[in-house]
Amino acid sequence: MAIESTNASDPAAIRFPAGFGWGTATASYQIEGAVGEDGRSPSIWDTFSHTPGAISDGTNGDRADDHYHRWAEDVALMAGMNLPFYRFSLAWPRLQPDGRGELSQRGVDFYARLADALRERGIEPWVTLYHWDLPQVLEDAGGWPARDTALRFADYAEKVHDALGERIRFWTTLNEPYCSSLLGYAAGVHAPGRKEPANAIRAIHHLLLGHGLAVQAMRAGGGDGHEYGITLNLTPAMPASESEADADAARRSDGISNRIFLDPLLRGSYPEDVVADLEPLLAFDHVQDGDLETIAQPLDALGINYYFRHLVRAGSGDRFGGGTPQVGAGDVEIVSRGLPRTEMGWEIDPEGLYHILTRVWREYGPPPLWVTENGRASADVVADDGGVHDADRIEYLDAHFRAAHRAIEDGVDLRGYFVWTLMDNFEWAYGESKRFGIVHVDYETQQRTPKDSSRWFAGVIARNGLGEDA
Ligand code: FCB
Repeated sequence: MAIESTNASDPAAIRFPAGFGWGTATASYQIEGAVGEDGRSPSIWDTFSHTPGAISDGTNGDRADDHYHRWAEDVALMAGMNLPFYRFSLAWPRLQPDGRGELSQRGVDFYARLADALRERGIEPWVTLYHWDLPQVLEDAGGWPARDTALRFADYAEKVHDALGERIRFWTTLNEPYCSSLLGYAAGVHAPGRKEPANAIRAIHHLLLGHGLAVQAMRAGGGDGHEYGITLNLTPAMPASESEADADAARRSDGISNRIFLDPLLRGSYPEDVVADLEPLLAFDHVQDGDLETIAQPLDALGINYYFRHLVRAGSGDRFGGGTPQVGAGDVEIVSRGLPRTEMGWEIDPEGLYHILTRVWREYGPPPLWVTENGRASADVVADDGGVHDADRIEYLDAHFRAAHRAIEDGVDLRGYFVWTLMDNFEWAYGESKRFGIVHVDYETQQRTPKDSSRWFAGVIARNGLGEDA
């Protein structure tokens, strides 16, 4: 891929390929609020966030950023940054409150207005159909461990694509099926809060099946220049030593974090070693003939969310139980590398982004890649001068953008990069306590204050790169 040459006057200057897709990302439950308005039904996150003890600071998404009412202001903020893309998710319980049947017109109207406003400002809408807010009624019917949920998802996707396809070209089926299966059904730290490891593995399959069926249905519906894809959070695992036990720990952790998703999607098969690791827990008899062909639909885009990688070693814990999300690798221990950490406690490791982009590119021959999320939580405060001076976030993004740029130079077809997130929002199990936004939100007043990083990001977009021109 052609990259404009760096500038002699600033050796640290880099430029991305022309037309590079910069953007920001959000998710419906994290920003919208208005949970009982216009016919929206409860989702598993409404139920979960109202369960005592589930959210560390006791907050919930009832109001969040009140984006459902303030969307026009939020679009204006993005227009101010000249964002080429905005990735947001559609709330299934707003669009299809019963989890089946006809769509809610009021739900469709909300997203149609939002998409129109974005396009008027030159911002391309990129939607995710499922960012974790399953209608509660479908969880009551069995949730993702039940095969029927995959069929329900495909039906929802087809109808929404019919309703909004004229306005929206970029369609992601699922955000991070790792989290909606393993955090939700094995670790129980996300909605619906179940600790049923075998069901979590079934949930993985039905999420992937729902993805494949949805892509088939949307593609059959037609749409000029439409692109269909999925977003995975990938977490590289590196062995802490050369011992066989640590190598095996890294293999198993990589298997349940990454390959159990990548292989079905891009190779049409489950990794044999992972199926063998899971054998004491379940036979893969939930997989029916033809499922893997359905799952492995050709894709136009693969989204990768990157936050950290893990140095791991074998431990002595229970491989399957104890509420581990790492089903089959529950004994694996994460070893600190002593790197600086974000407010989430996550080690800052831009090299891990280069590693995962080049690895997926080399090993899977995937469609064009997009970084659909990357960013950091910081202890941001509004300073006496009225600004939010998040130099740490600028430094973080600068380093990760450079890692992505090196991956492009080394041959990866990376088409865009979306910063997580537009504005501080309801950070799942951490509630309002973790701020990832490039815009600060005061949850009392709903005042939005662009942080220094948002002005810096606008500059990156304007130059399509880092460093100064001559
Ligand atoms: C990802 C989620 C996103 C946000 C970031 C910090 O796992 O997709 O909603 O919570 O982490």
